[in-house]
Amino acid sequence: MKKSKVTVIGSINMDLVTETPRVPAIGETVLGRNFSTFPGGKGANQAVACARLGAEVTMVGCVGDDGFGRELVHYLLTEHILMDYVEPVTHTATGIASITVQDGDNSIVVVPGANHELTVKKVAALETIIQHSDIVLLQLEIPLETVEAAANIAHKHGVPVVLNPAPAVRLPENLLDKVSFITPNEHELAIMAGAEGEQAEDYCSLMQRYPGKVVMTKGSEGAYYVLPDGSVGHEPGRKVEVMDTTGAGDTFNGALAVMLAEGKSLEEATKYAVAASALSVTRFGAQSGMPTKDQVDNFIQQMERSI
Ligand code: RIB
Repeated sequence: MKKSKVTVIGSINMDLVTETPRVPAIGETVLGRNFSTFPGGKGANQAVACARLGAEVTMVGCVGDDGFGRELVHYLLTEHILMDYVEPVTHTATGIASITVQDGDNSIVVVPGANHELTVKKVAALETIIQHSDIVLLQLEIPLETVEAAANIAHKHGVPVVLNPAPAVRLPENLLDKVSFITPNEHELAIMAGAEGEQAEDYCSLMQRYPGKVVMTKGSEGAYYVLPDGSVGHEPGRKVEVMDTTGAGDTFNGALAVMLAEGKSLEEATKYAVAASALSVTRFGAQSGMPTKDQVDNFIQQMERSI
């Protein structure tokens, strides 16, 4: 089968991960259990997820001209991702994420650094790359105007776009119109839609504002999607032993994008993405636990046998 072409336009970070028995309160010091560095960044993570699931992946982004930047580019090359359009910039450091993991759950502070050097001009120069993609995958760790420019170019050429609206911001209507699929978690859904109070909790109604577009992830509950007729479907989460949830959303997005690029329906793509993200949390680090296509296929078969 011909590989689908996915272009990921997004962030590349080094993750600085501390495991702690307890997240410190303001002004408090606690002793952590362990510290490690891992390749990360929502863009790079999603690129790795797509590549492991069999897609031909082009990464567009910026790293600093520094040790982290070189290490990250080298690592992504070993994942067979085309890195010709990842530019090292001299005056800004590579993006980092300071991640605290407690009992498998994480909290993250991102310092975008070089990721914010990915300008509208740089993306506009890659119109041909976007035009010849089967799907474009975007997140919000690069400037919003760059995301908008990429979505506009893809829309102009009829190339579908998956937008993972993380970290959450209120999204301009024009961007919401241009993207084909949006994949918030429940908090991001409320923020992107500008909903507050009770309205923010009614995620079914919020999803129905964007029929056929929204797939909402909800942690261990799996994912909900809204079909073009406004009906809401649910793909339940899979029970696994959780080590680290960092990168679960990125695995979900990568898997969803690959399946949609292969022409699968929203229901089928969501089912596959839920299975892939469940597998990803069973190992430490954002990218280390991302499964291959065979692993996801076997996992789905096992699940079906056990029903
Ligand atoms: O989604 C997880 C990612 O968010 C981490 O790898 C970190 O780099 C932040 O971008």
